[in-house]
Amino acid sequence: MEEMLGGTTITYLGHAAFRFTTAGGEQIIIDPFLTNNPQTPEELKHVGALDTILITHGHFDHFDDVEPLAGQTGATTISNFEIMAYLQRQGVENAAPIMKGGSAQIGGVKVTATHAFHGSSIALDDGSLIYGGEPLGFVVEFESGFKLYHAGDTALFGDMRLIGELYNPDLALLPIGDRLTMGPLEAAHAVRLLGVNHVVPMHYSPEVMPIFTGTPEQFQEHLAKIAPDVNVHVMQPGDDLTS
Ligand code: NI
Ligand code: MN
Repeated sequence: MEEMLGGTTITYLGHAAFRFTTAGGEQIIIDPFLTNNPQTPEELKHVGALDTILITHGHFDHFDDVEPLAGQTGATTISNFEIMAYLQRQGVENAAPIMKGGSAQIGGVKVTATHAFHGSSIALDDGSLIYGGEPLGFVVEFESGFKLYHAGDTALFGDMRLIGELYNPDLALLPIGDRLTMGPLEAAHAVRLLGVNHVVPMHYSPEVMPIFTGTPEQFQEHLAKIAPDVNVHVMQPGDDLTS
């Protein structure tokens, strides 16, 4: 584990939100849903300096804190074109695009946008929804060569095998909550297709939405049959994976 991470620290902020601190000291957050997230520890809602915000899609439980954080920190936002255009119109200064299949060097890390099967919209203050483009997953390669895959919100899809073949992620962050994304069975097959050795389940807390029924225990039961050699790291909000 320590060797794999190569100096990167991964902090779970609850739901689908993670903070990555790179070996070089850069701060990256993916899918910031913090202020109104019942899972996020109070002290981690105050983010401090931030270099990059990765955004898989525009649903509130991935997007709620993007505008305030970008405004406070000047961080670069990386999202699909439609969300980028929305953020620019909201006054976000460093909004940059990425689309599926594309890669970009963002500071010290290389980011690749992958497919995800889900929706994406942005809720305006009056409750109406505007088009948010297509949802993404991300492969992030750190300075040491350590690679992780954050699947975003998605169904299982066969081309996860291609993500495994092309990018060889060491670690996958996968939704298991069911109903709105993969459940435990599908996520266990995702592990098999990706060929990863390490996995962190996410996006399942009934505290966030009571409709989530998938649990880490069910996920581990399926993995025992489908991908028995994988290391499952069940993180509590506030936990670090560190090296
Ligand atoms: Ni979503
Ligand atoms: Mn979601």
